[in-house]
Amino acid sequence: MTRLSPVRLASSLFESSFSSRPAVAVSAPGRVNLIGEHTDYNGGPVLPVALERRTAVTAALEDGWFFVSVLDATVRGVEIERPLRGDWTDYLVGVVRELRAIGAAPTGARVAVASTLPVGAGLSSSAALTVAAAKALSLLGGRRLTPGQLVEVAYRAEHDQVGVHCGRMDQTIAAHGAAGTALLFETATGSIQRVPFPGRMWVVETGVSHRLSEGELNQRRRECEEALALCRRVWPGLAHLADLSTDDLPTVKASLAPELAARVRHVVTETFRTRMAADALARGDMGQLGWLLAQGHESLRVDFQSTVVEADAIVELAMEQGAHGARLTGAGWGGAVVVLTPEDRSARIMAEITRGFAGRFGREPVIWSSRPASGVRRETVRG
Ligand code: GLA
Repeated sequence: MTRLSPVRLASSLFESSFSSRPAVAVSAPGRVNLIGEHTDYNGGPVLPVALERRTAVTAALEDGWFFVSVLDATVRGVEIERPLRGDWTDYLVGVVRELRAIGAAPTGARVAVASTLPVGAGLSSSAALTVAAAKALSLLGGRRLTPGQLVEVAYRAEHDQVGVHCGRMDQTIAAHGAAGTALLFETATGSIQRVPFPGRMWVVETGVSHRLSEGELNQRRRECEEALALCRRVWPGLAHLADLSTDDLPTVKASLAPELAARVRHVVTETFRTRMAADALARGDMGQLGWLLAQGHESLRVDFQSTVVEADAIVELAMEQGAHGARLTGAGWGGAVVVLTPEDRSARIMAEITRGFAGRFGREPVIWSSRPASGVRRETVRG
């Protein structure tokens, strides 16, 4: 299923749309977050892994801006200064605006995009697009940006321009991912550390599109900001919610409304679980890692209230069938569940998840697997 090359797809889309060959091709991966959910905008750690499924951006210089995607193969002429249109081109416009702000944009370009990532499945297709576009367009503009600069351009494109109040996790793994590793990213300090992950992850799509989650994500972010402001009345120097310890939780509970206290409890316990998970992965202790994932899902379900029943069912089925662990990954309110299994039992576990899910929801979930893959890279233009 992952055999299709997005670079080849984007290159041939470029040629058929613009009757010429692209000058540059770049691809960037989607991601699964093993654990550390809703911690990246609260100063906590995250532990994402880059997927083999990628988004490719091919481009060549042009007067003006022309964008086309395999989604509908329709070329759109776009004015960068005009208000955003509310479709996928907003992400590219955001990237161009942010590249201009640092003097790294070309004057105009033809751009063709293709992806093997499902959109709206919580696997970070938007960061794969913005990071790949930031690299492709800056190369066209004659600049070689560092991975750190690519993260900033892509983050601002999504956060400041498109208005999704995300953290920096998705852009960071898309830019810094490396094959065979997970990335422990401490968002408060910016430190990144690669943790060997020789195994394979399973992705079970709930089939519930998380596109609408952007509103929910922004709402959760506001709740966390409100909770932080209230916590500062008790701890005036507090920089981030993730800086609280589990010992502080009784005080949090006594000081905040139950819903806000629950959000804080998730952030604090998830921060603890994520650091433990990175240690477990480094030791190769998949049992401990999996147990932490399942606990993390429970915290999302009960305290952060970002899961959906389809995801809860997949996690339950996976754990019943002897998976190491399973957890809804990404923003939530739909999307996909990441499942870690003993290699020799994975086929049986996936068959049982499919059967149980179909029995309950009347349709089979889409399931696939990936090994940890590499981050953004320049590709050879292929015909
Ligand atoms: C989305 C955001 C990320 C992160 C996750 C939740 O994927 O883009 O920055 O906040 O949700 O962990």
